[in-house]
Amino acid sequence: MIFSEWVSIGYLISASLFILGLKKLGHPRTAPAGNQLGAMGMLVAVLTTVADMHLEGGAQWTLIISGILVGSAIGYIMAVKVEMTGMPELVALFNGFGGAASALVALSESWKYIENEELLLPSGLELEVLMVAAGLSALVGWMTLTGSILAMFKLKGGIEIFGKWFRTPTWGPSWLNYVKVSLTFAVLALIYLSISDPRDQEILFAIILISSVLGIIIVLPIGGADMPVVVSLLNSFSGIAAAFTGFIIGNSVLIVAGSLVGASGLILTFIMCKAMNRTLPDVLFKSFGGAEKETLTRTKVGSDAEEVAMMVDGAQKVIIVPGYGMAVSQCQHQVKEFADLLEERFQTEVKYAIHPVAGRMPGHMNVLLAEANVPYDQLIEMEEINPEFPECDMAVVIGANDTCNPAARSGEGPLAGMPIIDADKARTVVIIKRSLSVGYAGVDNDLFYEDKTMMLFGDGKKMMNELNSAIKDL
Ligand code: TAP
Repeated sequence: MIFSEWVSIGYLISASLFILGLKKLGHPRTAPAGNQLGAMGMLVAVLTTVADMHLEGGAQWTLIISGILVGSAIGYIMAVKVEMTGMPELVALFNGFGGAASALVALSESWKYIENEELLLPSGLELEVLMVAAGLSALVGWMTLTGSILAMFKLKGGIEIFGKWFRTPTWGPSWLNYVKVSLTFAVLALIYLSISDPRDQEILFAIILISSVLGIIIVLPIGGADMPVVVSLLNSFSGIAAAFTGFIIGNSVLIVAGSLVGASGLILTFIMCKAMNRTLPDVLFKSFGGAEKETLTRTKVGSDAEEVAMMVDGAQKVIIVPGYGMAVSQCQHQVKEFADLLEERFQTEVKYAIHPVAGRMPGHMNVLLAEANVPYDQLIEMEEINPEFPECDMAVVIGANDTCNPAARSGEGPLAGMPIIDADKARTVVIIKRSLSVGYAGVDNDLFYEDKTMMLFGDGKKMMNELNSAIKDL
């Protein structure tokens, strides 16, 4: 078999591993194996690409091996150091890196032909076609880089780089929509112009500049509960940029991997839009999340663990509603212990209500609860569990807020229209959080003030430990 056939087989294996991995990511039980398959696919792709580069001399090998070592070290350190709560920022940053890497490779490849008129193009490829692909890769790639970096800062809650302005990271007057549309058309016009003059460097620089600005002004108005949607969209963009670049350098596995990321990211974006009852144009042009955080004026007296333990004794059905606060306090093991105690001591039926955007990343609650060995069949999706709340004795809300905020039903404000967990329909509600303060979208929650609601104020882990001890002491 000739060498190029081995290369094709290597790419085929890695593409198959990507597809299998993606399939396994569809369920929490198989997701860890899916992740490993994807990583193995990437390893095979990198090794095949390096073999296909026909490197000669120590200098070339040193360059490639140093790149692999430095990249792996940075990736490893970031993955080990990141807190579970910091995952969305890391994902946003990686999306940006992906977009930038694709755009840079496309730029360097097209630059070769712009600079050197003698250089022969790969057979069957016209310079004009290559420049259109390079322009599209630049549009998507640079937009993804700047948009993702801004998204990362927003998820972190802003950063004081430019003083007060950057501390308020959500800004989007309606005229900005005209700017976005005009700039998009400007880039498309420049790409069209590059067909008639494919060696004009200024066109390429203008595309890069405008695309970078576009990324910023697309993400700038988005905030609150819509941030996960935009991160998922940027993830999809990074894949599309990679696919364009794969076309430019004639690398089939980059086209396959890029298309998979692009398509799956887009599907996830639409699933999340549906979960939030938004359309993608709403997210991109209406800036729902831009509202100021509400200032609290109401008060509520807190309960204690003993009181809640007595209430829970005798409950036949309890539904646990986990949210971001469970991730912050890392109390999933205590939550599982609580469920076990109820099942063992009172024969209570316990289920978990999972909102699609609870926490800060898709599947956040599933990952944490799986880590604590909660059986998958107890994790029930929102649409399925909601009809069970009216017959449920107690909803125990642990660090969730927006995802069970009845204000979402009002049709107004940043949460308007987002489907929620119907915790307020349970006979009694216990809410564990540190204060009465608002959640991610900044909207006050009437559920805290209802007569049937008992507030257990404190850190999730501390309060769950107290509650478990109180149940054991009954
Ligand atoms: P949130 O609405 O964000 O509320 C979390 C609550 O947890 C806060 O009100 C906070 O109240 C409490 N909390 C924080 N630290 C705690 C601790 N150590 N112990 C106990 N409680 C603690 O949570 P949610 O209901 O999960 O909703 C998620 C929100 O994030 C949605 O708006 C969603 O759109 C958005 N979002 C989701 C994602 C994805 S993909 N899931 C990504 C980005 C954003 P206290 O300060 O009073 O304790």
